[in-house]
Amino acid sequence: MSVHLSRRRFVGSTAALSLSALVPRGLLAASSATQKFVVRAGAEIALVRPEFHGHFAEHLGSCVYGGLWVGKKSPIPNIDGYRKQAVDYLRELGIPVLRWPGGCYADDYHWRDGIGPLEQRPKRVNIHWGGYIEDGSFGTHEFIGLCRLLGAEPYLAGNVGSGSPRELRDWIEYCNMPSGSTLAEERVRNGSAEPFRVRYWGVGNENWGCGGWMRPEVYGNLYRQFSVYLREFGGTKPFLVASGPNGNDRKWTRGFMDTLEGGAPGGLSMHYYEGGTDRATEFSADHLGQQLSIFKRVEEAVTEQRTLLDSYRDGHKIGLILDEWGVWDKIPEEDEKRYGKLWMQSTMRSAVAAGLGLNIFNRQADKLFMCNIAQIVNVLQSLLLTDGPEGKSCIRTSTYHAFALFKPHRSKTAVRVETQDSSPLAVSVSASKAQNELVVSFVNPRHDADFEIDCTLQGSTAREAKAVVLHDPDWNACNTFENPNRLLPQPHTVTLDGSRLRMDLPRLSVATVTVRTG
Ligand code: AHR
Repeated sequence: MSVHLSRRRFVGSTAALSLSALVPRGLLAASSATQKFVVRAGAEIALVRPEFHGHFAEHLGSCVYGGLWVGKKSPIPNIDGYRKQAVDYLRELGIPVLRWPGGCYADDYHWRDGIGPLEQRPKRVNIHWGGYIEDGSFGTHEFIGLCRLLGAEPYLAGNVGSGSPRELRDWIEYCNMPSGSTLAEERVRNGSAEPFRVRYWGVGNENWGCGGWMRPEVYGNLYRQFSVYLREFGGTKPFLVASGPNGNDRKWTRGFMDTLEGGAPGGLSMHYYEGGTDRATEFSADHLGQQLSIFKRVEEAVTEQRTLLDSYRDGHKIGLILDEWGVWDKIPEEDEKRYGKLWMQSTMRSAVAAGLGLNIFNRQADKLFMCNIAQIVNVLQSLLLTDGPEGKSCIRTSTYHAFALFKPHRSKTAVRVETQDSSPLAVSVSASKAQNELVVSFVNPRHDADFEIDCTLQGSTAREAKAVVLHDPDWNACNTFENPNRLLPQPHTVTLDGSRLRMDLPRLSVATVTVRTG
């Protein structure tokens, strides 16, 4: 089902800038261990939207139940039912946006099942993720409560596959209408006098797969129909996100756009997983290289889908959203039994993968609107792991730390960086600037090569530089419940010589340099 459909790989051309065309010849004759870069602070790309660091929580395994939500009566320390340690870690990182309740689950979720008195909420079977019974105790109010605790913008994924325009229209009214209507009064009776003011609304999920197995024309027609009824209530205009392609599937995007004939959605949701052939902690060197190479195709997919959208009238108004991304490795059955469906470790390799993705988002900041990694807790490439739904331990993964290393880029302006090498496993780089600061991130995906970074900062005067690195030569290294801090970002030596920045970039590392400028 979704796994296979989501892991299609695509090959295309690359549009990377070559440094050889831009740097005097002598400079390129350095040893192969030296990687040269030029940060062009004057060459602005676009704002690094905080939403590039967005997240996704599905009713799947122990992501919501037992992960984020333990219930108010749980012996696990909690804040009104939310796992306290998870809330503390996520607040520290900052969660700009959170998408819920799926994923595949969204197109079989009926929002009325998750409101009102707990004892009256129906019990439903989760048909996509193991056939277990959901008691509905985490519903709309609980989700909004979590978003408020985390300071995250809520993003609700609506049901198209097994739902109706009326059901989704009513959910929007229930959430956003301040008062006066029967649905608004129901929300007030259920505990929220204030409207939720939810802006982001997904109109289905993977409707080419688990969301109804539709052809793009069929989905396009349904999107047209649904969109007529999905309205502004109480001054909150919904930003509608249409179900987009699986990877770089142009046929889907074209079929959808041709059917639309105008009336652009706010966003188009593209999903791109980077499949892995081994278990997370047992990767071979070859498979590591194969998986990390996929990121080049992700970048091509972003540019090609953007170009395709822009070729349509009003297509430039549609925000391209990488709504689900991340590594998807082979998952041992014993781990799923113990910890929950799709529970997956995050290793040094995963952190490098996260860094490759986050660098792409900076470089393609003018083409993207939002990116949500799958998923926030316990499922796939998660930021936090808990030791099963009943477990008290909650640890930060290597992926959490990779996101933390990219946090300084948020809300800055991405700028161009010229590189020597644009092959799939080359050192990956991106940079952003604000008034008195320049931030540069480097990722070394090679397991067999350490590099010296020689980076010229053009167009700004550097005063002082500080670096932080996440690194382990063992790509299978990870944080565990026994050793939760094996992988932690560490201060790293960087030297500044006029406008030249130099540092070592060890194999398998993610490093961020913050430069004071002025
Ligand atoms: O993230 C897990 C699943 O992957 C989602 O439910 C679905 O949208 C995708 O196929």
